[in-house]
Amino acid sequence: LTPKRLAGERILVTAGPTLEEIDPVRYISNHSSGKMGYAIARQARLRGAAVTLVTGPTCLAPPVGVEVIRVQSAQEMRDAVQGCLSRIDIVIKAAAVADYRPRTRAGEKMKKSQESLCIELEKNPDILAELGAGKGERILVGFAAETQDLLRHAGAKLKAKNLDLVVANDVSQEGAGFNVDTNIAKLLFSDGRVEELPMMEKEDLAGVILENVETLLGEKRAA
Ligand code: C5P
Repeated sequence: LTPKRLAGERILVTAGPTLEEIDPVRYISNHSSGKMGYAIARQARLRGAAVTLVTGPTCLAPPVGVEVIRVQSAQEMRDAVQGCLSRIDIVIKAAAVADYRPRTRAGEKMKKSQESLCIELEKNPDILAELGAGKGERILVGFAAETQDLLRHAGAKLKAKNLDLVVANDVSQEGAGFNVDTNIAKLLFSDGRVEELPMMEKEDLAGVILENVETLLGEKRAA
């Protein structure tokens, strides 16, 4: 049986992609199955936490016993996250949020006429960076999916977003990243420590991430 070390803790997990509409039938998005975030939500629940899962569109069944808030766009995800933040101790942001959205959404399906088409994009809010700026006593965990210079980019995110822990994975490696059941991750901590993990099931990686969150929480409360 999983020890209930997170009993009484309130955890917010985000998962899946966001989807940014171009017109009523088209959108831009990111590759993301939602498996990593759903595994974290399930494992946090098994450890006794009260879990809220804010999820973009996925094909997965949500874990039992978890409060689920379904969203589509990054702006909706931000509103959902901000809406429940006041009662949250730990935020784990596994969602693949679209960095940009179309500046306008066409009301009708766009017709195929010109040889080339430009869609102007504007920046979405960085939800995690906003949380980092108003962090308070919360523990913040982010993900960094990279295709090159993994440690450098992930370390920069840890600092820029004021995180306690970044789970970095090189998505160009086989057995890591989107749509597979395994991942190969490095954990980067705010004190500069790096832990390299072997390829493991996302469900097991979720357990390792939560064990580290338990330790960080203990350290923060003892300080
Ligand atoms: O900068 P990048 O998107 O790679 O950072 C990844 C981390 O930041 C993830 O934890 C992701 O959920 C979060 N993020 C966010 N809002 C965005 C972009 C990323 O919360 N607009």
